[in-house]
Amino acid sequence: MALDFPVIYLLPTFIDTDRFLELQGTIPTLTHDVNEADVVVANLSQSGRARFELRRLGLNTDPLVPAALSSDPGIIELDAPQRARRGSMSSDSSDTASEVDADELTTSPASVRRIITDRGEPVVRIVKLAWLTTSLERHVVLPVDEYLLYQGIRKEASEKTQRTEPNKPNLPNPSDIVARAQLDTPGQAPKSAFPHGYKRQHERTSPSSQSKRPRLLLETTSEHDIGTQLPPIPDYLHTTYSCQRPSPADPPNDAFIEHLKTIRTFRTLKNDKIGVRAYSTAIATLCAYPYPVTAVAEIERLPGCSAKIAAKWKEWKENGFLQENVDAENDDKLSVLKLFYNIWGVGETTAREFYNKGWRDLDDVIEYGWETITRVQQIGIKYYEEFLVRIPRQETAAIGDTILEHANRIHAGFQMVIVGSYRRGRQDSGDVDVVLSNPDENATAHFVEKVVVSLENAKFITHTLTLSTRNSERGQCPLPWKGEDRKPGTGFDTLDKALVVWQDPEFDHSKHSKNPNPHRRVDIIISPWKTAGCAVIGWSGGTTFERDLRRYCKKEKRLKFDSSGIRNRRDGGWVDLESDLDGQAPDLLTAEKRVFAGLGLEWRPPEERVTG
Ligand SMILES: *[C@@H]1O[C@H](CO)[C@@H](O)[C@H](O)[C@H]1NC(C)=O
Ligand SMILES: *[C@@H]1O[C@H](CO)[C@@H](O)[C@H](O)[C@H]1NC(C)=O
Repeated sequence: MALDFPVIYLLPTFIDTDRFLELQGTIPTLTHDVNEADVVVANLSQSGRARFELRRLGLNTDPLVPAALSSDPGIIELDAPQRARRGSMSSDSSDTASEVDADELTTSPASVRRIITDRGEPVVRIVKLAWLTTSLERHVVLPVDEYLLYQGIRKEASEKTQRTEPNKPNLPNPSDIVARAQLDTPGQAPKSAFPHGYKRQHERTSPSSQSKRPRLLLETTSEHDIGTQLPPIPDYLHTTYSCQRPSPADPPNDAFIEHLKTIRTFRTLKNDKIGVRAYSTAIATLCAYPYPVTAVAEIERLPGCSAKIAAKWKEWKENGFLQENVDAENDDKLSVLKLFYNIWGVGETTAREFYNKGWRDLDDVIEYGWETITRVQQIGIKYYEEFLVRIPRQETAAIGDTILEHANRIHAGFQMVIVGSYRRGRQDSGDVDVVLSNPDENATAHFVEKVVVSLENAKFITHTLTLSTRNSERGQCPLPWKGEDRKPGTGFDTLDKALVVWQDPEFDHSKHSKNPNPHRRVDIIISPWKTAGCAVIGWSGGTTFERDLRRYCKKEKRLKFDSSGIRNRRDGGWVDLESDLDGQAPDLLTAEKRVFAGLGLEWRPPEERVTG
């Protein structure tokens, strides 16, 4: 016996395909057109999200507050007194219920209260999936009240409705991604929302430098008698250049450092360059400090750590959090900036631009700015959530292998280093960066196009965001240096590179109709052999290590370092540190070591360049 349901649209979001089909089969009054539905059933728990889903489907509504309904004279309630009885009855109401015309509604025997406003505007309601499943279980159409997520008056379809329809060309249903990105329940947030916690869980298990760390045994933590017990400051902390000291992963003050990093991110968003710099320096110092801090005085005496940082430490030690971060997280403007900043292809400057245009969420960017943002940013929005998901080491290694294999198929002799946080030993990464080079100089010229085409044909690359061939175009000659960058902070070298979106094309076609593998951000950097050591160093990071390396070259050596080579600041000429009497380096690691040696720096394994 079919239950007397209203016309129902089942929202596919967060219901797996099989279950979705199964559920659809249980609904006698199912519609595939949300515009026909009286009730939208959704596997959601939040009304904001529910309303968003309606918008995404092109159904614009004005919210109706449920509590206001019974007393609001503008609303006519239909069938309210009868609903319990009707609920247990079957009838042929499903035909008439599909009409949204107000006249029809007055005669509709729908068992769920059907409501219209006094002007006859139809109301649509979104209810939790449990309403449907529980009703089915009990063979009764339950009142929706306690399952209601949202209700609103339907508005006429607008321009926007058409523009956000799923199958529009140039707009590959980006709001779908936005919708997922806007999930605000912590349990559903991507792992990357907690990248550091995630990292630590895994990295704690690695023995790393733990055993090397001198242990400081303190019997007391009271501050006045600590002065004499403070551990010695390691000599290497007296340098102001973090490239001159070991900064291992997982330092003993990691937990505090994470809070400082959060401050730094917010300072970045606030365009506080001096603050960013100061926090970066303090973070780098603490990353290299081998003892767990036990006293305010212990931080204050560290080079690069001011009394301010010491005060932050004290606050964190006492409260477990920093008020500055709590305030920032609750700040509407900063939250919006952070959302935009997390779009791949959007830096802090663009995030502020978006904000200043009045945009407040990704949907605004799509609705009002889609045509004006770059293609890279469009892709960044399309894959907003996927790009925030961390990439495990194993997958990064597999991606590297595939790239190298294609490279060598095109031209034998390629060598590759997977750089970035992977090389620094992290258990997971935000994207994959690889540096490829070949001792045969002819092999690297205009190679980036070839390898991209090969990987596109093999369906690994789904989108090529940027293809830069500047290095090849000028004959792979290291560019003479022409003064400070016009755009400070871009930090972009002139190497040939392809910034692509990657997806493993292998999947079980019997289980999925569509490739379920996550999209990943991959950078393929091609360096001519003669400067490949610089490319490897420049792309290995960490950020403050790189900053200090450039500063060291400038201040101490009057050189200009970037990933495409080293120049002399006196005459702008290229300085070759990678060849010796026997010629060029035999491999990329040797090339890297020669650059360190040539700069008068001790070579450090990348796992000790974790400067934060
Ligand atoms: C509904 O969503 C939750 C969490 O997002 C999920 O665990 C559950 O399996 C979903 N229900 C169905 C029927 O797919
Ligand atoms: C590179 O190409 C140039 C010009 O085509 C050629 O003269 C040279 O021999 C090539 N070098 C190698 C190592 O193949």
